[in-house]
Amino acid sequence: MKRVLMIGAGFLQNFIIKKSKELGYYTIAIDGNPNAVGFENADEYKAINIVDEAACLEYAKQMKIDGVLTAATDYGVLSASYVAEELGLHGIKYTSAKRIKNKYEVRKCLFESGADDTGLSFEVSFKNQISEILSKVTFPVMVKPCDGSGSRGASRVDRADDFKSACLFAMENSLTGKATVEPFITGEEYGAESFVLNGEIYVMGVMKKLMTKPPYYAELGHSIPSGLPSELEQKVKACVIKAIKALDINFGSVNMDMLITKSGDVHIVDVGARMGGNLIGSHIIPIGTGIDYMANMIRAAVGDKTDFAFKNEPIPVATRLLALTPGKVKALPDFKTFEDENVIIEHHLSIGDTINEYHTNLDGCGYVVCRSQSVDSAEIEAEKIKNLIDININRS
Ligand SMILES: Nc1ncnc2c1ncn2[C@@H]1O[C@H](COP(=O)(O)OP(=O)(O)O)[C@@H](O)[C@H]1O
Ligand SMILES: [Mg+2]
Repeated sequence: MKRVLMIGAGFLQNFIIKKSKELGYYTIAIDGNPNAVGFENADEYKAINIVDEAACLEYAKQMKIDGVLTAATDYGVLSASYVAEELGLHGIKYTSAKRIKNKYEVRKCLFESGADDTGLSFEVSFKNQISEILSKVTFPVMVKPCDGSGSRGASRVDRADDFKSACLFAMENSLTGKATVEPFITGEEYGAESFVLNGEIYVMGVMKKLMTKPPYYAELGHSIPSGLPSELEQKVKACVIKAIKALDINFGSVNMDMLITKSGDVHIVDVGARMGGNLIGSHIIPIGTGIDYMANMIRAAVGDKTDFAFKNEPIPVATRLLALTPGKVKALPDFKTFEDENVIIEHHLSIGDTINEYHTNLDGCGYVVCRSQSVDSAEIEAEKIKNLIDININRS
């Protein structure tokens, strides 16, 4: 029985922990939270801070693992890479994983390699650089923490007067205290999910994303197929492949966010060397394409045989995040009543929880997943069920 270490055992990682068990792997999970939900499904677990690379390695050695992976969280990426490299297991090179953690380094690499259509970006590492960078930028720009996630600390800046405060805001929200300043792109948002194995790059899916209105930039849902004209979808896939090569991603999952303008310019805004969150890897790809993505990820991690062939004609799937009306939960509806063979609900709401106004992914309470004859009808259905859930929650 091969032994797999899952770095992260929260709500989104629980799907892959369950999958790993289902496939018959001895599944070991770590998470900083001693009550992580994924621990319930693991064969063995330990509360370990997943960004503590040395602690993760120490435990991995003790557990004599055959493979290591992380999914749906940026926090586990470096540790998974570190453990894999130190133990000679399959994983992304540490140097590549490290670069991907810095959004400015990613932008610089993609700009220099011409992987997409985005112009020059700048990095702000110290407050005293702000005025010099200001003299070089053309507004509007997007200012983001170099190592942000969940869209925290990001803001659009249209005029010089607001530049400094946006940089400080992004720097405050960055663990390394750095911000990236990029051209602001006006367009529709898409995501791409890929896997790299033995020199092959499998672009499994391009998804359309629904986002909140500015000033927040948080996901509200995804749909597949993307609805892009096929030529443009081919261009997107070509950009994804160029970017993966330029960033020297030699192994594993790659999740990208991109903006596409009316004129068909493709702008990659975010790259994660891990399976996408928001049910992309666990639900959207497998339902939409028939590829058992999570099984392949686990098998690739331990060196077992994978199969990335599309299993069916694309099946339209749409998700909606449970971005709900704020309040304290007094009573919950029976979620089963909303489900049928085409509808799945995955939520983490409990009585007594406080629902926050939806500004970042972290404010989401779960997901509705719908499949249908068309993307349009899947989206309408998912939106309808999300609203039904919202009005059926009793708040105090
Ligand atoms: N250069 C940009 N122009 C316009 N919008 C952007 C730009 N960069 C990011 N965004 C918006 O902000 C969101 C969050 O940025 P992203 O880099 O993906 O950060 P995070 O790691 O927090 O997800 C994106 O999904 C997109 O909607
Ligand atoms: Mg993003």
